[in-house]
Amino acid sequence: MTKFSTPVPSLNQLPVCHQNTKSIIGLLRQCWHWCCQVALVQPSLISYLEPLIRLILPNFRAQWSHARVVDIQQQAGFIHLTLRPGRRWRGFIPGQHVQLVLEINGRAISRIFSISSSLQLFQQQGLIRLTIQQQSKGLMTSHLMQWLKPAVDAGSLSSVPVHLSAATGSFVLQQQKPLLLLAAGSGITPIHAMLSSVTRLTQPVLLIYSFRGAEQMLFAESWRELQSRFPLLQIQFVDTNLRQRLQPGDVETWCNSQPQCQVYLCGPSRFSLDWQNKLLALGVDASAIQQESFGLAAVPFLVAAAAGAEKPESFPIEIRQSTQVRNISSTQGSLLSSLEAAGFNPSYGCRRGICMQCLCQKNQGLVRNLLTGEISDVGPGMIQLCISQPLSAVELSLPSS
Ligand code: FES
Repeated sequence: MTKFSTPVPSLNQLPVCHQNTKSIIGLLRQCWHWCCQVALVQPSLISYLEPLIRLILPNFRAQWSHARVVDIQQQAGFIHLTLRPGRRWRGFIPGQHVQLVLEINGRAISRIFSISSSLQLFQQQGLIRLTIQQQSKGLMTSHLMQWLKPAVDAGSLSSVPVHLSAATGSFVLQQQKPLLLLAAGSGITPIHAMLSSVTRLTQPVLLIYSFRGAEQMLFAESWRELQSRFPLLQIQFVDTNLRQRLQPGDVETWCNSQPQCQVYLCGPSRFSLDWQNKLLALGVDASAIQQESFGLAAVPFLVAAAAGAEKPESFPIEIRQSTQVRNISSTQGSLLSSLEAAGFNPSYGCRRGICMQCLCQKNQGLVRNLLTGEISDVGPGMIQLCISQPLSAVELSLPSS
């Protein structure tokens, strides 16, 4: 059996009395949040007191933990950001992600990234690493390099407010079975955290990692070290500049020889969806596939549209912002993309339906939730711009900027 000595046990591994204690604590915590919401209109007492605490500790934020930037390194299109989370941060399970929050010109900008470093790095040195793909027009990544890097190099970090949310996500190793890990691009980051946290391996693991060009290959040193440490770990690198993309034939023999294997897929959503279908066609059980992806194309009709099968219709969007009214047309994809394409600057964070920063008032119109496929009713309601696609004319109220 594969043994992953992850010192953080999953919930179902805890003794029953411990689970009961946890559920009572969870219930008490919910009651406390409810009381705070009713009495203070805040999720917690500490949120209520935040303005006062910030008079003494200007970097304090109630819902996030402060983190100190220890190092920033650049590697062909990626940034490796090493952070020392403050005492309030509760740790992570390898494979989970966090929200990184920077304050840029007084505005909190947040993005979600998987932790790429091992649990041991956190336990022994109190550090975590985020490996972030640079976006040419990305506010977060350009800020990291233009503003944070010089501050790190000059040793003037105390003035740099960086915050972290609690680590969340269920893309973590749970099964003690043979593993097939398929990763593309920056999708390798949670898988690197998982594998580099393993201390003993007793079942075979095959990792196939696709990247575009040798310079974009992440964690090269670490792969060498892991392969020499674990004879049962096989790693195949697929440099798509040198050979064609990964094909079902590349994993077929493995799937046939390890019918009980658990599969972890991580990469752009198109990659994850394609591979999910290919693995099902190879006879892999759907319940054996876990996936984490970025982008929203995991919704079938979006994939079809991306392949040119059918162009979604464009709908008029009326935007009310303080006393102004503007009319635009929807573009392909989410309402957030349509607004940005028209020159609006709505708030957003993760662009994946997690952080709720893009929450917006819809006055009327039908929208589809791109994650669940659920269709709203036609009347007023709150929607997340990043995961809502119009299905009719829509009227929105945006907060004044
Ligand atoms: S940007 Fe995070 S939920 Fe929309």
